[in-house]
Amino acid sequence: MTVAASSPAGATTKPFLAALGGERQSVPPMWLMRQAGRYLPEYREIRAKAASFIEFCYTPALAAEATLQPIRRYGFDAAILFSDILVMPDALGQAVSFESGEGPRLAPIRGAEDFAQLRLEPDWSRLAPVFETVQRVKAALPAPTALIGFCGAPWTVASYMIAGHGTPDQAPARLFAFRHPELFAALIDRLADSSADYLLRQIEAGAEAVQIFDSWSGVLPPAEFERWCVAPIVRLVDRLKRAAPQTPVIAFPRGAATHLGKFADIAGLSGIGLDTAVEPRTAAAMLPGHLALQGNLDPLALIAGGRALDENIDRCLQGFEGRAHIFNLGHGILPETPLAHVEQLMKRVRG
Ligand code: CP3
Repeated sequence: MTVAASSPAGATTKPFLAALGGERQSVPPMWLMRQAGRYLPEYREIRAKAASFIEFCYTPALAAEATLQPIRRYGFDAAILFSDILVMPDALGQAVSFESGEGPRLAPIRGAEDFAQLRLEPDWSRLAPVFETVQRVKAALPAPTALIGFCGAPWTVASYMIAGHGTPDQAPARLFAFRHPELFAALIDRLADSSADYLLRQIEAGAEAVQIFDSWSGVLPPAEFERWCVAPIVRLVDRLKRAAPQTPVIAFPRGAATHLGKFADIAGLSGIGLDTAVEPRTAAAMLPGHLALQGNLDPLALIAGGRALDENIDRCLQGFEGRAHIFNLGHGILPETPLAHVEQLMKRVRG
């Protein structure tokens, strides 16, 4: 299956896609990770209409509306599909629920027996509402706004599948990988292939770029980073790019720090998401010139507002000068963020 690029003519008119094509722009295109979500009153209002968060994600009318809300309010240059990285374990047969205030809950994978319960391939019918959401959003977006699809990186998704919940350091998955390397490799491979196919289906439905969230790449030592973060993303991107060579891919390796260069060398990437710990100038000097750099304002500066926000925005803009830059946060926007501060950010970046 090969997926054609969505209108090449359109690509040049969308600033976000132009940046991923390597174009430097005097005003960087911008979107914010988790831009749809709890800081928006209109999100909280529609969120109350679904019995659970996962049900919300699987209801195209609600998920499409949540995707579009931040575009209507702020006019970001890209919309990101409203869903969650944990729909993948759900589609592989490991049911996911979200307890309010406590984060995700899954029945943990403790060994070979639990692993054997997983499906070999995702149940695509379970994910059908996600693809319908993509189609609905694509039809409703303003012409200059690009649509981003996404998945979790194999390591990050696996870390939740092993622990069954969020942890501060993903110790359960790290231990599991040391104790059962073959089994863990089988899980990682399944996630890499399933995630590539999942992204392809999002692209077929209308996603114009995709982002791979590796939120937990920062907890692994060098050899494990290579084996469980980098190698599986090489596999995923290779499989994806063979079928959708024109679709730009962004990887977000949160916490990669001194390993960042290894990530940036992954063939087929068009952009790299930078977390708040990376100095923009250093990243701009060190990372390959073909990559668009995305980031990396501290979400806490956005909560603080005022001078701290202005200074941090300026440092970010100046640090990435001379590179194709996509303005973003270094991690997701927090629920406490005042709406007026997002307004302040938009005005300062757009001038
Ligand atoms: O960016 C967007 O606006 C698109 C939607 C999106 C969500 N999750 C919605 C969501 C995206 C891209 C994600 C990615 C995601 N999900 C990641 C990677 C990015 C990151 O933040 O590190 C991770 C690790 C998850 C797993 C996850 N989902 C956790 C740990 C939690 C609970 C913690 C929390 O923030 O509440 C979620 C729940 C979740 N995903 C919410 C939203 C809006 C909050 C639940 C709600 O609104 O009821």
